[in-house]
Amino acid sequence: MADDIKLRVEGIEKSFPGVKALDRINFSVRKGTVHALCGENGAGKSTLMKIINGQYKPDAGQIYIDGKAVTIRNPIEASEYGIAMIPQELNYVPELTVEENLFLGKLPVNKFGGVDWKKVHNDAVKFIEEEKLPYGPKQKLKTLTVSDIQMLEIIKAVSNKAEVIIMDEPTSSITEREVASLFKKIEELKKQGVAIVYISHKMDEVFKIADDITVLRDGTVVSSDRAADIELDTVITRMVGRKMDSVYPKEKLELGDKIFEVKNFSEKNMFAKINFEARKGEIVGFAGLVGAGRTETMRAIFGLDHHDTGEVIIDGKKVDIKSPEDAIQNGLVMLAESRREDGIIPVRSVKENASLANLKRFIFGGFAHKVREKDDVTKVFQQMNVKTPTLDTPIASLSGGNQQKVLLARWILCEPKVMILDEPTRGIDVGAKFEIYKLMTDIVKQGKTIIMVSSEMPELIGMCDRIYVMSQGYITGCIERESFNQESIMRYAMKETKESEREEFVS
Ligand SMILES: Nc1ncnc2c1ncn2[C@@H]1O[C@H](COP(=O)(O)OP(=O)(O)OP(=O)(O)O)[C@@H](O)[C@H]1O
Ligand SMILES: [Mg+2]
Repeated sequence: MADDIKLRVEGIEKSFPGVKALDRINFSVRKGTVHALCGENGAGKSTLMKIINGQYKPDAGQIYIDGKAVTIRNPIEASEYGIAMIPQELNYVPELTVEENLFLGKLPVNKFGGVDWKKVHNDAVKFIEEEKLPYGPKQKLKTLTVSDIQMLEIIKAVSNKAEVIIMDEPTSSITEREVASLFKKIEELKKQGVAIVYISHKMDEVFKIADDITVLRDGTVVSSDRAADIELDTVITRMVGRKMDSVYPKEKLELGDKIFEVKNFSEKNMFAKINFEARKGEIVGFAGLVGAGRTETMRAIFGLDHHDTGEVIIDGKKVDIKSPEDAIQNGLVMLAESRREDGIIPVRSVKENASLANLKRFIFGGFAHKVREKDDVTKVFQQMNVKTPTLDTPIASLSGGNQQKVLLARWILCEPKVMILDEPTRGIDVGAKFEIYKLMTDIVKQGKTIIMVSSEMPELIGMCDRIYVMSQGYITGCIERESFNQESIMRYAMKETKESEREEFVS
């Protein structure tokens, strides 16, 4: 049974204006197995999957299901062939309710030909109970966390009795516990004979879950192997097309004066007594488990969310930050956790998405700044090695990682003193990660300061001078570079913060 090919594609080709995204792709997935698809940003992974899911029409090539040649013209036809896809970009409508989202595209019809909302509601209630979801059917998607929405997409696909499930970066925003529950679901699905395509930049996940591994580079298949027969290093070398010598381009710099200070920051039920500081040229990390309150804290500091008490001091001056606009004017910027929230405008060009004119128009009305738009954007893009056919290409057509670089470019163009980067390398491949780390090094070399929130401990350890660790809304520890190690970070991250200890920690 294990060798039964469920899905096979042959000779798939696809070009977009200015790029050949896929070139003569052969790829097959066995029943009851997980086939990981690895490759750098822009390698063509999502494009191939969108072709299988009927979202894109291939220029050439053939798809076979159970050995039979099929034509898949749209996602509805794909689902008729038993294919379901969890998309990389969660394109949800914030105003939709959970129940509407669950049945989107397949709303049941009543005998009068209208939508049977009663059935929608009842089925949704049942579904939510079965899956023990922590929200109600009438709740709007905008009130859910990114992680809740991603989990909802996963459960939706899994519950549809699909025979082929494509998971495009399914774990980019879910908590560790949810990852564990997803992996358990995957094991069950395998037992039922479901064929799974798994796309992830997290190599440890790939090696944990995959039976087969295919590497794509620049739109072609480099190799396809049984996971047991291939080493991690080999996969990475094949992905980037060169040997990676040093993963973290960290340079130990002479640190300057204290430039950034947060004192006694608190918000009820979110975080409390947050005290920390950072110096010129320093990269300060924030570690913790998902849900520790790091993002909430940073958002409040940047003025996106409310805080009850606390002060922010930049360059010796106490600043009053009530909105991101205030923050930016005082030299503080923040790359938010989710691209959508960071104000990505899919249909606009990469240039517009990177430029401040855009920032002003769409996000922070009234904030004025002069930038020689095209020149500056071009320069930063070159530094960051952004892969885009032209500056006028809509950002939505860039690969996920390249979209992230464009947003980072936007903040760099603000010429800030302090940058908060919340999960800056999420969804970004090894090669591009290296470029972002190099860029971070360049930024601090100019005397700027970076605060990096990350769930990937190796990158914090690799890049930071100091790491603060948070647990349950409190800072539970601070570790200097000389003493970094995963165990001590984990210990602080899992620390149950007793009320008495909370009082004690002052940075
Ligand atoms: N709709 C589109 N219009 C134009 N170009 C596109 C479109 N979709 C993808 N591309 C281009 O095709 C190439 C492959 O992109 P794809 O999204 O498949 O990469 P990926 O491997 O999924 O990358 P990532 O890991 O960043 O998600 C890229 O050069 C991308 O810019
Ligand atoms: Mg992709």
